[in-house]
Amino acid sequence: MAIVEHSEFAPLEDVVEPRWWHGTRPIEPGEYTLDGRDFDMSNLSYDSPLGTAMRAMYDRVGLVHVTNTGLTDLVDMRTVAKHIIDAEMDYDGGANPRDNIEPNVYEIGAPLSAWLHYHHEMAYVGRSTRVISFLAKDVLPQAADDPGAHRGASRGATFVSDSIGATDRLLSTDFGRKLRDLGVCYHRNLTDRDAFAGKTEFGVYNHWQKSFGTDDCEVAASRARDQRLAVDWGPDRLMKTRFYCSAFEYFPGLDRNVLYSSLADHGMWFDTWPLVQHLPYEERPLHMTFGDDSEISPEEIQQWIDLYDDFGMPLDWSEGDIGVICNYRWAHGRPEIHLANGEQRKLGVVLGDQYSRVGVIANRW
Ligand SMILES: [Fe+2]
Repeated sequence: MAIVEHSEFAPLEDVVEPRWWHGTRPIEPGEYTLDGRDFDMSNLSYDSPLGTAMRAMYDRVGLVHVTNTGLTDLVDMRTVAKHIIDAEMDYDGGANPRDNIEPNVYEIGAPLSAWLHYHHEMAYVGRSTRVISFLAKDVLPQAADDPGAHRGASRGATFVSDSIGATDRLLSTDFGRKLRDLGVCYHRNLTDRDAFAGKTEFGVYNHWQKSFGTDDCEVAASRARDQRLAVDWGPDRLMKTRFYCSAFEYFPGLDRNVLYSSLADHGMWFDTWPLVQHLPYEERPLHMTFGDDSEISPEEIQQWIDLYDDFGMPLDWSEGDIGVICNYRWAHGRPEIHLANGEQRKLGVVLGDQYSRVGVIANRW
């Protein structure tokens, strides 16, 4: 995978960068934070007081941040996350592949120097996940003058945005109703690894061999179709997939539809990537349109980015923290991160129960 450091290049003037939040949290920290010092952290059993408290909190607000755990081992942090995540999914292709750092704990699959727009995990394939957890393995020291600090957020914070609030606001707008009526299409252009052997990886984000875990293009296409992706082949065995779906998803827990798409997979994400930014949107590795293949206008893009920012807040990481995020009720993302010499910022990821998206259910708004 080509990982390109974009920070050495001057940003383009019209790049849409999220603001992440405005300094006010959509819910109070006490509603989603558990302090490990209030629990016996040597008891990590499912039925421990911590496990019980985590599940009750998760049911209420869909977000649990366990702090002051004293844990340093990803395996232990994962055990805590599993208090909520019972059934983990196998990571079997179609999404951005991640390298294992521990069994069933994945690396974040993106360069630190690129910001990650708010998104719901695996919204761009037919099988998604109900829950995602982050495990704070290596965190960053805080610096008062850090340019990466966003309105009081810690360096290296993950941001979450209240998708319930965002949904209700969005549906009161013309843009939201258009999104509801048209749906969205996720376009992906996956390059052929063999076509780039020994060459500069212009336009490369993921080769289909890595995304689908095979060297056989028929197998890759079959796995894509299993994810309900339409597949076409371009020159040089460029694999082009499209996934048409609702911008919303029915959430059984609240018996209502919630916003499930974001602009994380829009071609603009590559506006600052040197080997990709020269390409028109439709030729970039990822792109999004409305479900009738029409482009999302610059005004609509800004409106959508602002929407998640308006309901956003940081999860500030200390070593050993565990964050568990309902993938329906919260979107997540993060600003770009710049490491000083010797610094590391490493979060493990645990994905939860995989499910087939159902889209929206009528009259459940
Ligand atoms: Fe994510």
